[in-house]
Parts: sequence; structure tokens; C-alpha cells
Amino acid sequence: MNPPRHFLTIGDLTEQHLRALLRTAATCKRDRRYGQQALAGRTVALVFQKPSMRTRVAFEVAVLQLGGSVVYLGQDDIQLGQREPVKDVARVLSRYVDAIVVRTFAHSTAEEFAQYAQVPVINGLSDLVHPCQALADMLTLQEQFGRLKGLTLGYVGDGNNVLHSLIQACAVLGIHVAVATPTGHRPDGVIWPAAMRQAKQHGAWLRWVADPAQAVRGADAIYTDVWVSMGQERERQARLKRFQGYQVGAELLRDAKRGCRVLHCLPAHRGEEITDEVLEGPGSVVFDQAENRLHVQKALLLFLLGRTTKRIP
Ligand code: CP
Ligand code: NVA
Repeated sequence: MNPPRHFLTIGDLTEQHLRALLRTAATCKRDRRYGQQALAGRTVALVFQKPSMRTRVAFEVAVLQLGGSVVYLGQDDIQLGQREPVKDVARVLSRYVDAIVVRTFAHSTAEEFAQYAQVPVINGLSDLVHPCQALADMLTLQEQFGRLKGLTLGYVGDGNNVLHSLIQACAVLGIHVAVATPTGHRPDGVIWPAAMRQAKQHGAWLRWVADPAQAVRGADAIYTDVWVSMGQERERQARLKRFQGYQVGAELLRDAKRGCRVLHCLPAHRGEEITDEVLEGPGSVVFDQAENRLHVQKALLLFLLGRTTKRIP
């Protein structure tokens, strides 16, 4: 099973890849020392245009636990696209390091990195997708339910990057998903129909509904994310108005299955997309999700870098 060269979206992985990654992640979680010298002598660069806690720390700790070293480059350090073009940064960094994790605004920036880099590029979030998060989400569901195929997930909120990767992963793994968003915030017009087709091929359904109560009814797990993503701060007031009625709170959970789990990629805005009561409630698995970022990032690095040697053209 050859790994893809880069990991920019969940679409870069086959079902076989995804299942293997989740198995390795579970092994990493059970045994912290698993793969401890796998990245000895290797360096991973993190090039982030946006702030981060989980993604940055999970990758930094993952690389260190695998015996490698990390260079973090924030927006002020290299001023990506301003001080020099993305294609130059990608080629220069490829001469120094063995993999590059990028967090970008435009998804095309991550794609340009991958086009010019001579080492694997991992997408640590773009405006379009957040594939590393979806890996942790799948590991969390697998732990909670002991299976993935046939589960039902209800997503309530913004049709954003986190949702896009979530529906792509669920489609490949046979998880049914009902999505409730305001009409103007439906998921991407290319990702959605492709995920619907994939879901169908894997025996699952993917539906959009306007009513949040309909999305959570019968769901094994409920997922939400912020209404204002990084880069959308100027739309904040308008968004807060448009998302009224889409909060995951005690009232909405009355329509859900007893014992359903609640997921959120974090950071959460308590009192907006989710209440404090639900986030801190018995069904919440958000801190397992956050922890699982570390284990899936280790599995991903082992998968992409484990057996490769540096390729310089
Ligand atoms: N969930 C997530 O990606 O968190 P950070 O933005 O803190 O990395
Ligand atoms: N949708 C959020 C996710 C943060 C992890 C954002 O892009 O800001």
C-alpha cells in the first residue's frame, strides 16, 4: 500500500489508507514509544499563516516522540507570499527539511506548496479543508463505538473546512451524515456532491437539512464547529445573526438519542455554536478528540515519512 506523496485532503487517501492510518494511530496511543526512532535525523517544518494550538503542538510533540526535530515558521517569520513567493519557499525549505506542514488561508497556497516542494506536504488546515482534524475525529468515533461503518453523525453549524473533511472521511468509511446549516452556509459545491457519491458507494447516505433538530434526531454523535472561522472575523456580526437557532445546547439535545456523543474540533466559542453545559456534559468527547490529534499526527508522519528517503531532484 503506497502512501500518497502529499496529504492535502482526505481525498488523497483510499479507504485502505485511512483504515491503516487509524490502526497505526491506535497503536501509537497504546504504546507511546511506538516508532520512537522512525524520524531520527529528520526535520519537519511547520509553516503557519494562522494561529494554532492543537495542530502545532500535536505535530511538534509527534515529531519529537518519533525522534525527529521541528522548525516552526509563523506568518511573521517568513511572510509567506509577501517577502517571497510560495513556490520559492517550498523549494528552499525542501533543501533543508524532510516534510512540511502548512496552515494556510487559500487552499491553493497549500496546493502550490505541494506542487513545488520536493518533500511531503501536509495540510494542517486551509480555508477549504482540515484533513488532520478528520483523522482524529474518526479515531475518536472508533474508540467510542468500536466501529465506524453504519454510525450516524449529525452536524450542526457552518458548512466549513472542518465539515468538508469530516464528510469526506465519513463517506469513505461508511458513516451516515445529516448536515444542518443555514441556507447561505451550505458546504462547498464541489466537495458535497463528490462526498455524496462516495458515501453511496460505501453504503452510506449524506443529507442536508435546514432544521438542526432533524440533523440530530437518531444520531449516534453530534458535531459542531465555530460560526466564525479564522480569516472571517470581519463577518462576525452578520454570521452570529445568521446562525441563530443552530446552537448545540440542551434544547437541541432533547431531540437526540440518549447517550449520544458530542464532538467539536476546538477551540470552542461557548455560548455561540455550543453551550458550556453541553461541552462539559457527559456526552462530550472533545478532549479525547484533541488528544487524538497527537496519535493521528504520529501515524500520518510514519505513513508519509516512515520508509521514504529525502528526494532531491
Ligand atoms: N482543532 C484545531 O485544529 O485546533 P488549532 O487551531 O488549535 O490547531
Ligand atoms: N473552522 C475553524 C477550525 C479551527 C480549528 C477555523 O478554520 O478557524
